[in-house]
Amino acid sequence: MLESLRSVVDVKPFERDRDLRRLSSCANVADYRAVAQKRLPAGVFDYIDGAAEDESAMSRNASRFRDRTLVPRVLRNVSSVDTSTTILGKRSSMPLIIAPTGFPRIAHPEGELATARSAARHDVVFSLSTMGTRSIEEVADVCHGRKWFQVYVWRDRALTKDMLARCKESGFEALYITVDTAVLGRRERDVRRGMSLPPKLGLDTFVEGARRPRWVLEFLRNEPIVFSNVAVSTKRLGATTEDGSSAVSLARFINDQFDPRLSWEDVAWIRSQWDGPVILKGIQSVADAKIAVSEGLDAIALSNHGGRQLDASPAIIDLVAPVRDAVGDSIEVYCDGGVRRGSDVVKAVALGADAAMIGRPHLYALAAGGERGVDHLLDFFKDGIEQTMALTGVTSVAALSPDIVNER
Ligand SMILES: Cc1cc2nc3c(=O)[nH]c(=O)nc-3n(C[C@H](O)[C@H](O)[C@H](O)COP(=O)(O)O)c2cc1C
Repeated sequence: MLESLRSVVDVKPFERDRDLRRLSSCANVADYRAVAQKRLPAGVFDYIDGAAEDESAMSRNASRFRDRTLVPRVLRNVSSVDTSTTILGKRSSMPLIIAPTGFPRIAHPEGELATARSAARHDVVFSLSTMGTRSIEEVADVCHGRKWFQVYVWRDRALTKDMLARCKESGFEALYITVDTAVLGRRERDVRRGMSLPPKLGLDTFVEGARRPRWVLEFLRNEPIVFSNVAVSTKRLGATTEDGSSAVSLARFINDQFDPRLSWEDVAWIRSQWDGPVILKGIQSVADAKIAVSEGLDAIALSNHGGRQLDASPAIIDLVAPVRDAVGDSIEVYCDGGVRRGSDVVKAVALGADAAMIGRPHLYALAAGGERGVDHLLDFFKDGIEQTMALTGVTSVAALSPDIVNER
């Protein structure tokens, strides 16, 4: 009887490593998100997870991916599927890019270092934000893979110029200019919680801390979270811009420091300061995509900042085909917002994007399991892309075409 019981019961060996144990029960991005929600104080989770106003742009981003079905094709010998592709002239293991996000160290003490190492191992582009919590130099030290830097244009142009010089010295390959943040969107979860960055350890945090003791302990045990890129440049320049060493309201900080007069002339100025590729991030119309082409940009990222800026903005996947039709092959096109599965990446590429980017998913995975969380997530995306390509009968990224997407 014991023998027959043994033959049907397969007890999973106990995983001693806490991160791996947690990750072993994650099957998709919703699962990483649920773990992140359990591990992070509510205000921190809401800062990452939230979006502007009614959060309708954020939900539209995701639901418009779900609305599109794919055309399964059969009997096409899919024994070998190649997910690799070329982005800005260099190879990537898949058409996926880690989007720039501010303050990753609030999700995990290692922050960008963990994500950048994992991205390099997976042969995927890592993007560092101006509002990063690890500096350009720290990231370059650990990441020997492809790395891009995202700049905001500061009122104090010397700061922008200094960051570009540091990127050059540190081997960053390309530059994004984020253009959808002329003013900060109204993120109502942050308004309600009076969210500051870095998070303030006030009375409410201690109440939260009783529920999330591990996060509070890590927060206190590790070096303070500051806007590392700003801190290095202000020191080099002897400037006085706040670097996050005391808590600031993000809305006030952005509205005080970033230049709302930003225009196409400033884009030309940045291009004159940088001899590598430049990507405009935050394009949301065919009209602006066409201007980007005429201005000679190398790439555009169709993005509504994950729904964190204008809540009435269109779902990003809806823009991909019309923009590709309008710009032809003159420019690379990436897109982000609501990409949660390999099949979403396949839909975006089939409709005309060169790559899709992920923001929140990598922060959830980082919170769920640090560097191994990001490894887990990138494997999940790679497997999902490969599986979707096999089930739609396509064996190379170049062969993905709009024919495999049913547009409603
Ligand atoms: C917490 C958080 C911080 C972000 N910070 C930045 C930033 O500093 N610069 C930037 O260009 N985009 C930033 N973004 C936007 C992302 O680059 C990306 O456009 C967006 O997250 C994609 O949507 P998704 O989260 O649905 O994948 C941020 C997004 C999140 C969620």
